[in-house]
Amino acid sequence: MEQFTGAARAGAPAAQLASRRRAEVAPAATIALASVPDGAGERLATEIPEFDRALGGGLVAGSLVLVGGDPGIGKSTLMLQAAARLALRGVAVTYVCGEESPRQVRLRAARLGVESAPITLVPETNLESALAAAEANGAAACIIDSIQSVYVEGLESRAGGPAQLAEAGARLVAFAKGAGIATIVTGHVTKGGEIAGPRLLEHLVDVVLYFEGAESGALRVLRAVKNRFGATDEVGVFEMTGAGLRSVENPSAAFLESHDPEASGCAVTAVVEGSRPLAVELQALAVPSFLATPRRIAAGMETSRLHLLLAVLARRGGLNATNLDVVATVSGGMRLRDPGADLAVLAALESAIRDRPLDRWTAYLGEVALSGAIRPVINSGRRLQELARLGFRRCLVAAGTPAIEGITLIPVTNVREALVATGAPQRNKPLFEGDGATATPPTSRRPPQPLSP
Ligand code: TYD
Ligand code: MG
Repeated sequence: MEQFTGAARAGAPAAQLASRRRAEVAPAATIALASVPDGAGERLATEIPEFDRALGGGLVAGSLVLVGGDPGIGKSTLMLQAAARLALRGVAVTYVCGEESPRQVRLRAARLGVESAPITLVPETNLESALAAAEANGAAACIIDSIQSVYVEGLESRAGGPAQLAEAGARLVAFAKGAGIATIVTGHVTKGGEIAGPRLLEHLVDVVLYFEGAESGALRVLRAVKNRFGATDEVGVFEMTGAGLRSVENPSAAFLESHDPEASGCAVTAVVEGSRPLAVELQALAVPSFLATPRRIAAGMETSRLHLLLAVLARRGGLNATNLDVVATVSGGMRLRDPGADLAVLAALESAIRDRPLDRWTAYLGEVALSGAIRPVINSGRRLQELARLGFRRCLVAAGTPAIEGITLIPVTNVREALVATGAPQRNKPLFEGDGATATPPTSRRPPQPLSP
């Protein structure tokens, strides 16, 4: 008899409760997989080629996009340009300008030459009422500039605080999905990528685009770090001009524009970003250090990567930078994620340490292992094609890299071979010559050992 078993006695009330609860709950709607409309839905192209590329082909109806980046990098500029393009094509666009007054927006629009575009401005920081205005306007696209400037009523925390961001994010998702409106929200993300910043929104939104920043220079790289409707790591490349952001048609050429073949410490490689190969230049500088711990400064790559490659260069290549301050950067403000650029970093470092320019028409492609082995990179064919297109005649590659037409491959298996293959005889100039009053370095600062053949 079941009431005498312990399990049944304990289980009975719970089971009764569960079945009662089941009876009360209305079942959720279901849908057969095969009957779901295919594709990501209709794309709303902004007709700004590099923005559409980063988006994966344009805005998807009902999607939520986050555009982040440092203050002043060009988020509002791009938003206004996109809004104008859409509006001029008859798409109803609502622009929530929480951060700036309509006058300021109008001034920027005049600078961009789009002041007559039929954009509806909503100068409002209360998120709910701004979104209600967009819906009432029949918007097909809605831009919120910025997430830090709007607030959700009824929460204690200040606009831009973690609780506000989380709540605003949830409301925006519901708004975009519920009303089927393509929604873009901008957010300031500082270099430190502050934890309580718009990064909190990353998991909520469909697409995350970040401007990678060059502090100087006009090039701007917009990278898709998340895209539910397209490839991640796709990058859009722009140039900031007096009349807004211009899509760069030939980014590789733009990244190499500052290339000075006479300067030491410069090496070119090709990285694959999203669906296309891009040539970039690694620039390194090595100078005698007067610090107990010489400095290592990296921009556009992890400092740990620089440390690692210097260590490999010292141990496996016999080329030491112990007493040198070393700076390494990537041209155009691009952030390197691709280990295929290692060999170029190594070549740039060698060239900088020896103060000896590399061959103008040689490029470098390969991953570097801790053992000093040079490993092949993925998509080598497309990278080599890009380098050949730009006029490079030779490329140092890992042994086993398939040849392509138009560029001569110089296979190397390890760092030592690579250092030998970087070519030109060493300049007849010691590193410390002309360095202040001392013709010879102090004994504690030994210059790098020349490479034994
Ligand atoms: P902005 O879009 O306001 O940056 P964000 O919204 O990311 O903070 O861009 C600001 C910078 O761009 C500012 O320093 C001025 C410059 N700019 C131009 O060089 N040309 C232009 O046409 C515009 C509109 C801005
Ligand atoms: Mg702005």
